[in-house]
Amino acid sequence: MLCVRLAFAVALLVLQALAPTARAAPSQCPGLCHCHGDLQHVICDNVGLKKIPQVSETTRLLNLQRNPLGSLATASFADMKGLISLHLQHCKIQEVAGQAFKGLKKLIYLYLSDNEITAIRQGAFDDLGELTYLYLDGNRISGVTKGVFAPMINLFILQLNDNQIRELPTGVFAGAKDLRWLHLSGNEIAAVQPGSLDEVENLAILHLDRNKLSTYPLAAMSKLRVVEELTLSKNPLTFLPDNAFRSFGRYMEKLHLDNMGLQKFADGAFGGVTALKSLHLDNNKLKSLPSSLELSTITNLTLANNLWSCTCQLTNLRKWMDMSRQRPDAVCSSPSTQRGKQIRDSNVFSRCKGKTKRAKKGARH
Ligand SMILES: *[C@@H]1O[C@H](CO)[C@@H](O)[C@H](O)[C@H]1NC(C)=O
Repeated sequence: MLCVRLAFAVALLVLQALAPTARAAPSQCPGLCHCHGDLQHVICDNVGLKKIPQVSETTRLLNLQRNPLGSLATASFADMKGLISLHLQHCKIQEVAGQAFKGLKKLIYLYLSDNEITAIRQGAFDDLGELTYLYLDGNRISGVTKGVFAPMINLFILQLNDNQIRELPTGVFAGAKDLRWLHLSGNEIAAVQPGSLDEVENLAILHLDRNKLSTYPLAAMSKLRVVEELTLSKNPLTFLPDNAFRSFGRYMEKLHLDNMGLQKFADGAFGGVTALKSLHLDNNKLKSLPSSLELSTITNLTLANNLWSCTCQLTNLRKWMDMSRQRPDAVCSSPSTQRGKQIRDSNVFSRCKGKTKRAKKGARH
């Protein structure tokens, strides 16, 4: 056994000696790090590294999280052509230079969460044509330059939540045509410009909650075709216009509109929405629901803390409540005779037109 190991070590030494280049790729695990699988996985988690270590070309996963690396210069990983997964969370990175990831043509996962990134230079993501998952959440990014994501034609998930982005300009996601999940929660977005979402028309999940939208960005949203989940919670949006969700209405299953100060829907706001399962409207200032809202598909509805006006205009809601297994909290705010009563217990609806079939039958017998 010892003999075999010795022979192997000698062979390695010979190979190293024969290697032609002056800076042969290291064939050892970098100091302070530990490695697995024939140096394919290099783990240097929280070991005080200030520079990116040299690793073997066979490295597929490099985990450098929690090291004070500072900024990422051009071609920081140039000799790591086989890298598939790169972990750089909590590395105090402030700036990502142009061509920072030069040569990483096989990279699929890039983790840059929880750094101090304010600027991503033009061309920063060049060469990342295979990248599928990009995590930039928890940074200080205030603006995203048009075209910066363009090399990433295979990008599927982009996490930009918890940054300081103020606006989505026209063409911002140009090139990222396969993007399916876009997380923008917890920014300062006050405007989503028309044309900003044109290139990502296949988005399935769009999170825009905890931003500063005061008007619904109808022109930009109308380019989306297959959104299944949309969150707009905690934006100061008081009104939702006609056909707000029409372009993806057949696909939308989850819609979060809670905690917004929402006062009113246009009557056709839910035009084209036919598959909704989960709708969250709690903590708003709503008095009524629009006639375009088809409740029959909904199984998860929250309505608490609004200003519901318990008149016949809420008959459809009451019908849904009578049929539903769910018992959402929803208290009448007006008229004064109903104030404080749960909608499901209020007696005003018995005199309204359009009672349920069940109720009509019951009334005849
Ligand atoms: C309803 O939706 C909320 C928010 O998405 C979720 O947390 C909850 O589990 C759902 N409830 C049911 C019964 O599906």
